[in-house]
Amino acid sequence: MRIAVAGATGNIGALTATALERDGHDVVRISRSLGVDLVTGEGLDAALTGVDAVVDAVNGQGATREETVAYFADTTRNLLAAEERAGVRHHVLLSIVGVHRVEGNAHYAGKREQERLVEAGPVPWTIVPATQFHDFAAMVSSWTEQDGVATIAPLLVQPIAPADVAGVLAEIAVGDPKGRYADVAGPEPQDLVDMARRTHQARGREVRLVPTWSALFGTEMAGDALLPGEGARLAPTTFEEWLAQQR
Ligand SMILES: NC(=O)c1ccc[n+]([C@@H]2O[C@H](COP(=O)([O-])OP(=O)(O)OC[C@H]3O[C@@H](n4cnc5c(N)ncnc54)[C@H](OP(=O)(O)O)[C@@H]3O)[C@@H](O)[C@H]2O)c1
Repeated sequence: MRIAVAGATGNIGALTATALERDGHDVVRISRSLGVDLVTGEGLDAALTGVDAVVDAVNGQGATREETVAYFADTTRNLLAAEERAGVRHHVLLSIVGVHRVEGNAHYAGKREQERLVEAGPVPWTIVPATQFHDFAAMVSSWTEQDGVATIAPLLVQPIAPADVAGVLAEIAVGDPKGRYADVAGPEPQDLVDMARRTHQARGREVRLVPTWSALFGTEMAGDALLPGEGARLAPTTFEEWLAQQR
């Protein structure tokens, strides 16, 4: 099959493109650095020629909640319209577990808008809600790190290996559209502060972590808000196994 991966230079997109090629598929890589911009639509029609399915794994951050929502709305609208013109038969969206339980987070508002447009859109779809990735804790810590100190919320998460997410997306992309897919998560729950501490340690970095609910993530995301629901599909790679590859 010919499958386009939007966000193909990113964390999950790159692994998904590799997994699809390993399985013998013809992959079209989409990203701005590769000459295709989902915000302006530049290069999009040419990229989707002959494509059967599209995996959307783009990411973006606006300065405000409005900008973030507008980014996900524009990229999704442009992608779906181009898919309809090209006769694409399956749109696969990578989303996040818990976005419908957390109102206050701007990124989650953007993901909800993305889901809404896909569900109402012209192309048969599968939405894949995934939990946080194993590298999420280190990424969150890097957002506020200054002079060796970073704030981080003690979120309860059930993280998944990026390669496992990519494997699931690659499998789904070559199958029939399934609507809303089961939550996709890793094998066991973790505390985000502990994950960040162990990742820094494994990478030989000294960062003092200050646990707080008053910075990027509030108490709306506490408790079970981010954990996978009933019937979740659990991927095998543990956080420890992933960590061992970081050393
Ligand atoms: N981090 C987590 O724990 C987590 C958990 C569940 C779901 N997710 C979701 O997973 C998705 C992918 O995340 P990620 O960490 O893999 O992303 P990432 O590493 O930040 O990669 C983002 C990709 O999007 C491309 N991109 C950005 N703007 C674009 C545009 N206007 N047109 C075309 N391509 C564009 C980037 O390439 P260029 O810069 O070259 O354009 C890059 O390839 C996100 O939507 C996120 O919400 C994340």
